[in-house]
Amino acid sequence: MTHINWWQTSLNDTEIHAVAGAIRDKRIGMGPLTEALEGDICKALNVPHAVMCPSGSIALFMALMVHGIGPGDEVIVPNRTFIATAHAARLAGARVVLVDCNAHNTNLDVDRIEEKITARTRAIMPVHLNGRAVPMDHLMPLARHHNLIVIEDACQAVFSQYKGKMLGTLSHAGCFSLGLAKLVTTGLGGFTVCHDRKIYEKLVRFRNHGVLDPNQPEYQSLGFNFKFSDITAAIGRVQWALGSQRVQHVTRIHQSYVTALSGIDGIHPIPIDIQGGEVPLYAEFISPHRDLLVNYLQDQGITKHLLPPGLHQSSHLENSGIFPHSDRFDREAFILPCGPSQPLETVSIVADRIKTFFQG
Ligand SMILES: Cc1ncc(COP(=O)(O)O)c(C=O)c1O
Repeated sequence: MTHINWWQTSLNDTEIHAVAGAIRDKRIGMGPLTEALEGDICKALNVPHAVMCPSGSIALFMALMVHGIGPGDEVIVPNRTFIATAHAARLAGARVVLVDCNAHNTNLDVDRIEEKITARTRAIMPVHLNGRAVPMDHLMPLARHHNLIVIEDACQAVFSQYKGKMLGTLSHAGCFSLGLAKLVTTGLGGFTVCHDRKIYEKLVRFRNHGVLDPNQPEYQSLGFNFKFSDITAAIGRVQWALGSQRVQHVTRIHQSYVTALSGIDGIHPIPIDIQGGEVPLYAEFISPHRDLLVNYLQDQGITKHLLPPGLHQSSHLENSGIFPHSDRFDREAFILPCGPSQPLETVSIVADRIKTFFQG
């Protein structure tokens, strides 16, 4: 029977040699390879500072902490996101205030933010889901007007652009993940980028128990051990260099699905502005027949993958309110097999099965 995984990435001999080299050179802690990867990132994203850390979740947590977000503060978080965004705010001690998504896509509805702002609101965390840009030229003036910090969660948006600029670089800080199901991966990993030198130094200190320069260990502020390893950085440098090639591949996969499924009434892509520079990391679709369809595909050996559930369903976040747009995506959205190493032939196999499901 066919077996098609929802996600395909690859690690090759180049990564193996890079890791072997790091070990041979005894580069197993945080050192020059991590610094070099930070340099690669700054160059590609056109941003002055990048700080590697163990995950996208930690990147978000660090960004909040160095901006002084904590107990007594409220942080505006989209109802649709991977829960890491909300957990980072909660672990920092803040209260999470959820906002529903747009009707047409899963991103935060910027027009619904203002009604949630109170005297306690300190920050907004726009999440650029699946490479789709939250309209930052609406959000940033709103944030400035209310004197709020903006921390972009760009964990699903590496190399995605908004009006010619890289997502994650348009606010006080941008956070990225190098997790397994990401465009470039180190298995586990993440980083925060920023423009402000002082914030950069705070991030560096926070990552290492308050120490700015390990050669002159002085505990200048609160911190923890959120360092990165040069072994992982060795993989990261190889993967990072594959970025633009991978952007092209995932875009091709997405466009091939859209073309192959365009004649079918019961299934539609969740819109994404590829012409505008958005990168469709995942092949996201909606269908009113979602559950029947994904179970049918699963029976054919095509693994099922749904979007993470709306956060209002998580009782520990203590949010009331209704989130009708988000609920619809909970019922109807799903991801077709994709990823930077998913063969293009997968698209025709999957599309044929979908046609059979709808047309018999
Ligand atoms: C939108 C979003 N935010 C945060 C994260 C957390 O990243 P990590 O898994 O590297 O901690 C992810 C990872 O999937 C994500 O998709």
